[in-house]
Amino acid sequence: MHYGATRPSVLKYDPFKAIIAPRPIGWIGTLNADGVPNLGPYSFFAALGSHPHMILFSSEGLKHSYVNAKERGEFTFSLATEALTEAMNVSSAAVADGANEFELAGLTLGQSVEIATPFVAESPAALECVTVEATQIHDRDGNPVDRYYVIGQVVQTHIRDEYVRDGRFDTAAARPIARMGYRDYSTVTEAWELLRPEELAKADS
Ligand SMILES: Cc1cc2nc3c(=O)[nH]c(=O)nc-3n(C[C@H](O)[C@H](O)[C@H](O)COP(=O)(O)O)c2cc1C
Repeated sequence: MHYGATRPSVLKYDPFKAIIAPRPIGWIGTLNADGVPNLGPYSFFAALGSHPHMILFSSEGLKHSYVNAKERGEFTFSLATEALTEAMNVSSAAVADGANEFELAGLTLGQSVEIATPFVAESPAALECVTVEATQIHDRDGNPVDRYYVIGQVVQTHIRDEYVRDGRFDTAAARPIARMGYRDYSTVTEAWELLRPEELAKADS
């Protein structure tokens, strides 16, 4: 099966998000113009590169996180985990600007070091980011679409001590949740290791 602009009727629902899955959830903290904390999950989210470490989230429509990250020039990322599922979901509710989703979700404000925006203190790991780009997306014909992305540079990394093992962040122990298609999520529960070809060759010699 393949298709272009028109999805065949046998596919009742768009499989796009089920194919690009699982997607990590960018749990984005911002401050609004009055300094009120805002929190929302974004699964159109990615790590763009390291050194400098950069992350991206994308907003379908002009949502508070995009506007705040653009206007304030900063945002936080907190790792959404199985234990925090309910809070993550509560923070996705469409509430008015100025409604503090940290409070609505019963979360504690983590105190950032280099920026003013808080992160989720209960999360095993969080990143403080400075906005380097906040832009509207254009389609293939150059027409603006109602989609917007933010790129942030990581300036501080927070890790709860209990998740550091042998000098590493223990991702599986944190049990991060990820978004798939439809209403589906998945949980990272185990890790397996694979060496790169160059490393395998070195191990053999
Ligand atoms: C797991 C999850 C992932 C989501 N990912 C996105 C996303 O990538 N882009 C988006 O625009 N909305 C996404 N949403 C919806 C937003 O979280 C929701 O619209 C929220 O109210 C936005 O909050 P804000 O206006 O405070 O930024 C997602 C919701 C959930 C539950």
